[in-house]
Amino acid sequence: MPAAKFPDAMKLDSCRVCRGKNLETFLVLGPQPLSNNFLKKEQLGGPEPFYPLDVCFCPACHMVQLTHVVPPEVMFSEYAYITSSSRTMPIHLAELAGDVTRRFGLDGKSLAVDIGSNDGSMVLGFQKLGVRGLGIEPASNVAAIARQRGVETVNDFWCERTARQVRKEKGPAGAILGTNVFAHCHDLDDFLRGVKHLLGPGGAFVIEVPYLVDLLQHTEFDTIYHEHLSYFAVGPLQALFRRFDMSLVDVKRDPIHGGSIRVFARPEPNLPPSEEVQRLLRLEKENRLDSIETYRRFARDVASIRDRLVPLLRDLKKQGKVISGYGAPAKGNTLLNYCKIGTDLLDFATDTTPFKQNHYTPGMHIPVHPDTRFKENPPDYSLLLAWNFAEEILKKEKAYMERGGKFIVPVPHPKIIP
Ligand code: TMP
Ligand code: ZN
Repeated sequence: MPAAKFPDAMKLDSCRVCRGKNLETFLVLGPQPLSNNFLKKEQLGGPEPFYPLDVCFCPACHMVQLTHVVPPEVMFSEYAYITSSSRTMPIHLAELAGDVTRRFGLDGKSLAVDIGSNDGSMVLGFQKLGVRGLGIEPASNVAAIARQRGVETVNDFWCERTARQVRKEKGPAGAILGTNVFAHCHDLDDFLRGVKHLLGPGGAFVIEVPYLVDLLQHTEFDTIYHEHLSYFAVGPLQALFRRFDMSLVDVKRDPIHGGSIRVFARPEPNLPPSEEVQRLLRLEKENRLDSIETYRRFARDVASIRDRLVPLLRDLKKQGKVISGYGAPAKGNTLLNYCKIGTDLLDFATDTTPFKQNHYTPGMHIPVHPDTRFKENPPDYSLLLAWNFAEEILKKEKAYMERGGKFIVPVPHPKIIP
């Protein structure tokens, strides 16, 4: 239970999008520790903050969101995740910078602002294309990395106040981007007021968020953690933008992070939605995203993953196998804590991120070693906690599999490969 010195989470009293009050909780994953709160050895005996990790549905606008909001300063003032911990992400963000530059005709006079800019990977992409880039990043440790890489970075949270400061110093923006940050923000009204204030005429607001359709179809329940307050589909996003006299004009599905949508919005009302927007709205209807039954079924699927994965690991341990975690992603900690997988089932994890190495995972306290340990001392089985990078990882670890090493992929159903 949370010790008194940890700040409380706030219970959501109404829907973040439509302010509806009749929120229905359909999944209880917690209480859980914060998924990026990796611990040093000397912290292991001490208190650790645990917060509810429950998910609810708004019957009025069909928004899916966490029932509790942990204060953002607790989660984002220091951050363990860095974008360049995979090869996939910097490549993906450079492609996004190119897409936005072409679509909206950005040039040397344009300003592209990246909210939640992390180590500056995407701003660097814009700079390479000759576009002025600026990062906004609340975590001081990763903002420092970006600055070392020559990326101008405002070390702050995004809100209307930050937007006013940027506009005063830099003028209006041609594009504002947010990849995997919009779902992290509780006060979307303040966020969008800032976006509208900073965008110049003809400007665009572009976000990437995990797509609720993919999350449900592939039972990607481990992507649910305290940082991810909202689980978006096109329908609720369209309603949200309308409230701000903005238009959701286009959308593109992308396989990144288990299935995401890239959403393009303009700060003008009543612009026509593209064919693809209309297609995804139909898809969301077909997938019954408007019905609580869909989410109840999802909750049953989540329990069945746990009920298959834990006995599988137990069996392997009985046979004396060494099992490691491949990657120590935030999502891995949802999985480990929900399934209660401790060092009795998972010997260690390896990760490329310096901030995670030689630390212990929150809650289950699995030791995290540098990724080089995987090659030096390969386990018999490796639980692919970073399954969203399966393609990159399976390619990289071909030799491990050729020598008999196996991966266990946890979602959508626990599966051993090869
Ligand atoms: P993410 O799923 O939150 O993006 O985090 C992925 C984690 O997996 C991150 O901590 C880096 C780690 N990782 C490895 O350790 N090895 C790899 O080859 C890849 C692609 C990721
Ligand atoms: Zn609602």
